[in-house]
Formats: sequence, structure tokens, C-alpha cells
Amino acid sequence: MGKQNAIIAPSILSANFATLGQECDEVLKAGADWIHFDVMDNHYVPNLTIGPLICEALRNHGITAPIDVHLMVKPVDRIIPDFAKAGASMITIHAEATEHLDRSIDLIRSHGCQAGVVLNVTTPLTYLDHILDKIDMILLMSVNPGFANQAFIPAALDKARRVRKLIDNSGHNIRLEMDGGIKPSNIRDCYDAGVDTFVMGSAIFNTDNYKAVIESSRKALL
Ligand code: DX5
Ligand code: ZN
Repeated sequence: MGKQNAIIAPSILSANFATLGQECDEVLKAGADWIHFDVMDNHYVPNLTIGPLICEALRNHGITAPIDVHLMVKPVDRIIPDFAKAGASMITIHAEATEHLDRSIDLIRSHGCQAGVVLNVTTPLTYLDHILDKIDMILLMSVNPGFANQAFIPAALDKARRVRKLIDNSGHNIRLEMDGGIKPSNIRDCYDAGVDTFVMGSAIFNTDNYKAVIESSRKALL
């Protein structure tokens, strides 16, 4: 299969929440492809962020780009339909955050969204063994989930190389996304390890020139 076209998905966790609609407009105008939407429940991860109301508000504000909803929520099934109704394009769930991973994937798909599975740095790849035919994306964490602006964990690169092989051998069209600590200076390493979908939070939103960061990230992939 090989890598799909490169996607840059800014994580709005590091945006200014008081002006979130404008922040999304600006980052998309600056060349971003998707909006990465981090949902934390203060249970599965030790932080609390945003829910379906905010996703719906962004759609009502006029955001038409794909919204990539990353659920760091346990249990997760109850909230999946709410995000589908709120305008999520794809919904990714942590393998350990559901008792029945196959059922949760079916639930996402039955609501018309693309489905993704997230593996933490220490989550075994065997979780993927029997679901490759029904997922659109695998998200590898390159930090421990819960906070923006953490340091990239290099072990994620070896994991990406292994998952890239799994995807290619499966013959399925599955994106490989990485999330956490990605910057223009290490995005190429992720790409070379097989990643095609890049979440970037603080690297973009903690600067005052979103376009410059996105452009230098894309340049690093050429
Ligand atoms: C971490 C979140 C990430 C994070 C990315 O739990 O899932 O999306 O906000 O932020 P940076 O790019 O700053 O690591
Ligand atoms: Zn995320």
C-alpha cells in the first residue's frame, strides 16, 4: 500500500480556547489539512479538555475541514455517537480504553465516521491483529497522552516502522498517524519511519506564524 499523501493535523489543545473558531480558521488558512481534536476525561488521562459541544460549535462556525477526534476517554462507547452527531470526520480510540475494541470500531463506523485505533508507546501491536480490515487509521502516540508540549519519545519511531510493515503487508488502505512532540526538526524522522499523518500542537500554536511552521514541516518531507 505504502504511505498516503502527507497530512498535517494541528492539535487545537495548544490553541487559544477563547477564540477557537478563529484559531481553526487561521491554521487552516496557513495550510493545515485537518483539525486534531483532543478529548480528555480526567480518568483515562489526567487532564480534562473539550467535548462534543465544542466540535459542533466549530462546525457551526463554518469549519469544513476534516475533524480528527482523538478520544482519550474510558469508557468510550457512550460518547462515540455524540461526536459523530457533532460533526467528527474520524474518531480514534485507545485500544485499552474499551473492553470490546471490535465492537467500539463497529460503533464508530455505524455512525458514518472513519475509525482509528490509538496505541500508546507501550501498547502491544497484537491489538491490531484482527482489526486491520475495518480501520482507516492507526495512531501511534509519541508521548504519554494527557498534555501538550511534551518531549518526543524516540521508541515511537521503531514502532512506526513495524506498523508500516503491518499496514503494507495487509494490503489495506490505512493511515499511520503520529501524535506528540512533533516539530519541523523531527517530522522527517517520523516520515522515514512510515508515518503519513502528523499531529502538531505546540510546535504550531506556540508560535505567532502558523504558516511558517507548516511550510517548513512540509519542506522537510520533500
Ligand atoms: C496528547 C495529545 C496531543 C498533543 C500534541 O495527549 O493527544 O495531540 O496535544 O501536542 P504537542 O504537539 O504539543 O505534543
Ligand atoms: Zn491527540
